[in-house]
Amino acid sequence: MIRGKIFFKNKIVEAGIEVENGVIKRLSKLVKGKEVKGLILPAAIDVHVHFRDFEEKHKETIETGSLSALHGGVCLVIDQPNTKPLVDDFEEYNRRMKIAEKRSFVDYSLNLALTKKNVTKINEIVEKVKEKYHLPAVGEVFLQSFNEELQMSYDDLKSIKHKVTLHAEDPEFVEIGHPNFLFRKREAEIVAVKKCLEIGKFHFCHISTREAAEILSRSDSTFEVSPHHLLLSIEDRWKLGNMVNVNPPLRSKEDSSWLLKNFEEIDVLASDHAPHTVEEKLDGAAGFPGVETTYPMFIYLASVGFIKLETLVEKFVKNPAKIFGFEKYGEIEVGKFANFAVFDLKDVETIKASKLHSKCNWTPYEDFKAIFPKEVYIRGEEAKNCSEALGKVLRKD
Ligand code: DOR
Ligand code: ZN
Repeated sequence: MIRGKIFFKNKIVEAGIEVENGVIKRLSKLVKGKEVKGLILPAAIDVHVHFRDFEEKHKETIETGSLSALHGGVCLVIDQPNTKPLVDDFEEYNRRMKIAEKRSFVDYSLNLALTKKNVTKINEIVEKVKEKYHLPAVGEVFLQSFNEELQMSYDDLKSIKHKVTLHAEDPEFVEIGHPNFLFRKREAEIVAVKKCLEIGKFHFCHISTREAAEILSRSDSTFEVSPHHLLLSIEDRWKLGNMVNVNPPLRSKEDSSWLLKNFEEIDVLASDHAPHTVEEKLDGAAGFPGVETTYPMFIYLASVGFIKLETLVEKFVKNPAKIFGFEKYGEIEVGKFANFAVFDLKDVETIKASKLHSKCNWTPYEDFKAIFPKEVYIRGEEAKNCSEALGKVLRKD
């Protein structure tokens, strides 16, 4: 099918890939195929996106969010259920998966929300969803939220029998205010992480402080870090102006530099793609888009030797697959889906919001350097040039 330089078992080899029914059948120097210019990497798995849709189509839809993912070299996403209405029962879950089935450009999976309404029957709902779909996790569970329905307590975590992903900020250290980095203290994250680790083993979303990352890397829980907590800090507040809000907020330069320098220590890189319109942002809405720019910005950092390519693939492809049980994803190997992103490491571009595909029409990374994929293959098909959406929703098995 295709031939070229392939990132295989942490090395770059010159070989061809034969695909059957979307799965890699053979990988060998002897396989012939279309010569691909650039480096063939496994396409990424973004375990934290908010594709909105439903009653918030003006911010993003599954269609526009997944198109943005595809153009960023992402082949599979975990969408978050803090939608309007919330995805906290089987009916809503099923309804959303049916939309994704028709509209998603990339493979699609969805977490189940934990809410005041469903907390006493969460395990039953999990079982019902699991009969039909691959359910990555209950999450992201909010330990602090200004949406009353989503505001959960530490005790609520105790009885959940499925994997849980956490938005760990302790409400005691969070107040309403703009810009939010003045009102959401770093202690909120550190205290919440400590309290949760006393309860059990979790996956922690978007960790933003050095202390929390240090504690978590010594624990048996896993954690993700988002590009904005690695590449931006509160020093960027002048540039971002009123668009600065994101939860957890941007931290000091010491935090972001430490996290980036210790990139090897994190388990997962995840965008926390959280689109809002420019008007909503100027009004204080929290969240940054990122599903299209994460792989390209970090590929650029790898191309200049700032991080190792092998480490990037581990954090953005391999570990996400392992942690969330995506067995046919995670690397370029016989038996796995033929999901590739092809990068020309010499073709460095600058990010322009006007060229991105998210509906939100802005990016906090304007003019950052990035290397976008030339081609993206989803289960063996060149997906960027396809007129129809190739993504499949993740069913059971
Ligand atoms: O900044 C954020 N925005 N953080 C979150 O945890 C939620 C997200 C959103 O849904 O907008
Ligand atoms: Zn989130």
